[in-house]
Amino acid sequence: MNVDVVLGLQWGDEGKGKIVDYLARQYPVIARFQGGPNAGHSLHFEETSFVLHSVPSGIFRKGTVNIIGNGVVIDPVIFEKECRSLAALGIPVKDRLMISKRAHLILPTHLIIDAASEHAKGASRIGSTLKGISPAYMDKTGRNGIRVGDILTADFLERYKSLKLKHIEFLKQFDYAYDPEQGESKWLEAIDYMRQFKLIDAEYYVNDCLKKNKRVLAEGAQGALLDIDFGSYPYVTSSSTTCAGACIGLGFPPSKVGKVYGIFKAYCTRVGSGPFPTELFNQEGEILRERGKEFGATTGRPRRTGWLDLVTLKYAVTLNGVTDLIMMKADVMDVLETVKIATSYKIQGEKAERVPYDTNISITPVLREFKGWKRDLSGIRREEELPFEFMSYVRFIEDAVGIPIKIISLGPDREQTIIRD
Ligand code: IMP
Repeated sequence: MNVDVVLGLQWGDEGKGKIVDYLARQYPVIARFQGGPNAGHSLHFEETSFVLHSVPSGIFRKGTVNIIGNGVVIDPVIFEKECRSLAALGIPVKDRLMISKRAHLILPTHLIIDAASEHAKGASRIGSTLKGISPAYMDKTGRNGIRVGDILTADFLERYKSLKLKHIEFLKQFDYAYDPEQGESKWLEAIDYMRQFKLIDAEYYVNDCLKKNKRVLAEGAQGALLDIDFGSYPYVTSSSTTCAGACIGLGFPPSKVGKVYGIFKAYCTRVGSGPFPTELFNQEGEILRERGKEFGATTGRPRRTGWLDLVTLKYAVTLNGVTDLIMMKADVMDVLETVKIATSYKIQGEKAERVPYDTNISITPVLREFKGWKRDLSGIRREEELPFEFMSYVRFIEDAVGIPIKIISLGPDREQTIIRD
């Protein structure tokens, strides 16, 4: 058995939560492999909606095992809040969730370092979610980090204090006022709460599942264009958001990658700083933001909006080896007279069909225009009922990318999903 992977192909916020929840019925095991509480996976069903930050999106499904993998960084305070909210909804979260002992912890001082370093960057700030992601990964790769398994050791408190002292030392370079005790007592309480969960060697668990022919779905966070290596550096997150990151973040071999579901929105959004070649600054951009409710699930920040970009989409498909495309939120564009797609770029007067090394330069998108479908798609449940203009848009993308769009999602609810053969 292989691990199927589901991930975002843009700058995050593609709608992964809904799709993982949808796919979860086919998988007894769902595992998050990177990122941390910078993610906000929104799920809507019946009268309820919920935003998950650290917990995998299979948590709502009875009989599903959810794993937070070693590649994830966890803020115990956010984790506790999230789990308590799930428990309040009647979800037996402690039975359904397991955490890799090798996942790293976000300390209260990581949040302070994140804020201080963003503050110091001034106008060139990344636009971080300020959840301590980058400082936590820096400690991981700098071999200073504290891992989930450490909370079970006798000298955990000493380890914590020693890393906190290192952080206080590090913070001296910034002209930034802070309280070193900020958030500490809550954090320590949350560590106690975390001890009640099953803390496991998740790499053995995942590989054992594969041997036993149990299907595993690896759930990515953020998106390919925020990848630490392949995203628009330095305007990226600090983890490997691409498919290879699933192997590293869960501990299964690359030969065991099965299907790769690549999720993209029918348009693009980006939150935070960094290049965005097809960004719209006009009424159409405003329509996408308002109709698409494009405000950050984690930070509430308005998202930047723009047309679909085939140059970056093809790049993301190549990097991830996508087998199945999943298109989200085309219904947001229902009211537009025309819709556009960037098919290439103009850079210094030259046509470019590949993502350049440095995207922080002037890039003009070459746009192809399509007639809008001007129909409410949100109630359509069968492919045959989709308007011709919309299907022209879909087929153009499939032809250009060379991968079939297997799922079209036309609204936040589970039922608003069209599966295509
Ligand atoms: P960080 O990962 O919080 O440090 O943020 C780095 C960049 O990634 C910023 O531009 C964030 O807005 C963006 N980012 C981080 N997580 C997400 C996400 O889940 N969705 C969308 N953008 C994100």
